[in-house]
Amino acid sequence: MEFININEALKNKDSVRIRGWVYRERKQKDLIFLIIRDHTNIIQTVVKKEKVTEKEWEDANKILVESSVEIEGELKEDKRAVTGYEIQVKKLNVIGFADVFPIQKDQSEEFLLDNRHLWIRSRKLTSVLKIRSTVFKAIHDYFRKNGYYESHSPFFTPTQCEGGSTLFKVDYFGKPMYLSQSWQLYAEAVIYSLEKIYCIAPSFRAERSKTSRHLTEYWHAETEAAWHNVTDMINLAEGLIKHIVKTVLDENKEELKLIERDAEKLKVTLNKKFPIISYDEALDLLEKKKKMKIKWGKDLRTIEEEKLVELYDTPVFVTNYPREIKAFYMKENEKNKKTVLCFDCLAPEGYGEVIGGSERETDVKKIEERLKKQGEKVKDYEWYLDLRKYGSVPHSGFGMGVERIIAWICKLDNIKDAIAFPRTMVRFKP
Ligand code: 4AD
Ligand code: MG
Repeated sequence: MEFININEALKNKDSVRIRGWVYRERKQKDLIFLIIRDHTNIIQTVVKKEKVTEKEWEDANKILVESSVEIEGELKEDKRAVTGYEIQVKKLNVIGFADVFPIQKDQSEEFLLDNRHLWIRSRKLTSVLKIRSTVFKAIHDYFRKNGYYESHSPFFTPTQCEGGSTLFKVDYFGKPMYLSQSWQLYAEAVIYSLEKIYCIAPSFRAERSKTSRHLTEYWHAETEAAWHNVTDMINLAEGLIKHIVKTVLDENKEELKLIERDAEKLKVTLNKKFPIISYDEALDLLEKKKKMKIKWGKDLRTIEEEKLVELYDTPVFVTNYPREIKAFYMKENEKNKKTVLCFDCLAPEGYGEVIGGSERETDVKKIEERLKKQGEKVKDYEWYLDLRKYGSVPHSGFGMGVERIIAWICKLDNIKDAIAFPRTMVRFKP
């Protein structure tokens, strides 16, 4: 008989052969209940002393939680069992006995993070990791469907892209180099051959903040396109979020249920156009509706984003931020030169910025000025400035924090649970 997974077994309702790990065990005198889990589900099994060999009974008695086993038996409906059925064991083969599993009920978050390599077996994290897999698939599908090529940038970079304060310096044969904060600058070179490109890759930020939304290593879905303006990019970003949410709603119903995520809250996203407000309007709304006065020119902090998104039930775009607080490559807004043609997409339910994007400056002089102002050596960016000298075209792009999207979709308390092995300033093991 071939092995089938637990979900298939639950449909089979006959003789089955499964394999997996012991999720719970309860031993009685002549009876041992083992709940088995695999990547699909859990199922109760029962080992009766009189139905198995002496060796099997001895082994069953030595089984502790997380032992790996192969089981053959008869599936019977049993309303009391966790998933409504029970396997009456005919053959038991222990593949790997487990020591006493260190993770018990009610353990501290720190303990669970220290034991992350074991805690990822939990049903909650398993569900989140499945949703994560769907999110990655959806991103690839969306860009490919829209005619985007996948293209890659180096991770060792000689300069910053998103400001010097969050750069990780590495020793590159005795010379300083940095871990990439963004795929973007190199992508801006590649659009002259491929025109529409995207990538999902890790980005690195030396974030000193211990917030629930910052990682030092996160997965960044970025796109860049020639002949696209900022409005085209906003539309592309809205389509991307809708496609991701729809795919998760279609493919992860069970997982959303398991993590107790209210799917209705996500469905709203699919049916409405996302509002677009300017930075100026955002300040106005915060003052009038939330009694928060922010000085023009200041960036929106986490708390202000949280208050702003309370006014919406879908993601919202905030455009035209002040030039001074934004990256050197963003295009100046001709209608108000103190602002740039950029947008942030803020997710509802308190999640805040999930996407940042802009049209790119094409005026070499303006880029040079802004680099100097930020204390950068223009010489280091010569190759980048070349891109404006040989057939420059209007172009735009954006970057989405994949863990931030996952955290919102799964309504996680902390971004750390959106990735198997999170990296933050204080958390880098295991
Ligand atoms: O807003 P950011 O810094 O924009 C860029 O990097 C641009 N170069 C993107 C582009 O236009 N190609 O970062 C983009 C997104 C943010 O909106 C946020 O979702 C995510 O990356 N992000 C982080 N996610 C987790 N941890 C961090 N420390 C993050 N920093 C940014
Ligand atoms: Mg940003």
